[in-house]
Amino acid sequence: MRHTARNFENLIGKVQGLSERQLRAHFGLYEGYVKKINEIEDRLTLADPMTANYSYGEISELRRRQPVAYNGAYLHELYFENLTGPSSGGPSDDLRRLITADFRTLDRWWDDVKAGLVSAPGWVLLTRSRRDGTLRNDVVEEHHRGVLVDQDILMALDGWEHAYMIDYGTAKADYIEILRNAVDWDCVHRRLERSMRMDHAVAEPAA
Ligand SMILES: [Fe+2]
Repeated sequence: MRHTARNFENLIGKVQGLSERQLRAHFGLYEGYVKKINEIEDRLTLADPMTANYSYGEISELRRRQPVAYNGAYLHELYFENLTGPSSGGPSDDLRRLITADFRTLDRWWDDVKAGLVSAPGWVLLTRSRRDGTLRNDVVEEHHRGVLVDQDILMALDGWEHAYMIDYGTAKADYIEILRNAVDWDCVHRRLERSMRMDHAVAEPAA
């Protein structure tokens, strides 16, 4: 399948705290991942399976880097999708109930998000388990490492330096503060509904 970069220009001038220059630079980086996943997958169609080797082999290198470009592209789409202009007014009742069940209060949940973003240069993902419906904040230090199985991503927050350096320099804490108000909770709620509809997909009958 060919991967196509989506246009997120609708965000320009709407996300309070992120300038046009910052957003355009970030869009360019995202488009680079889309280009790279197509390049890797094109080369995989030609690579000789006999070159597979743990130490080095063309097909092995392509396979090892494929998830980097793939997740690099699609984590960015999840991030741009869940940014918004004017605040959507906070989490829905369902989200509030699930977040407080697992984190006690919304503020404690956000403190956990902040801790994750400060702890690593990569992503923090709010995810929902299709095994038991619980929510987690997962730290994904690189695009391809840390995404747990059976987790649906409800919210993606980009903590890489390229996401904020133009606007905030090294003041990552200031960027994290604006993120909380930039979350499109309607988008997060739609993802929750989709995740709940998919529960049956992983339910196996008892042996
Ligand atoms: Fe990014």
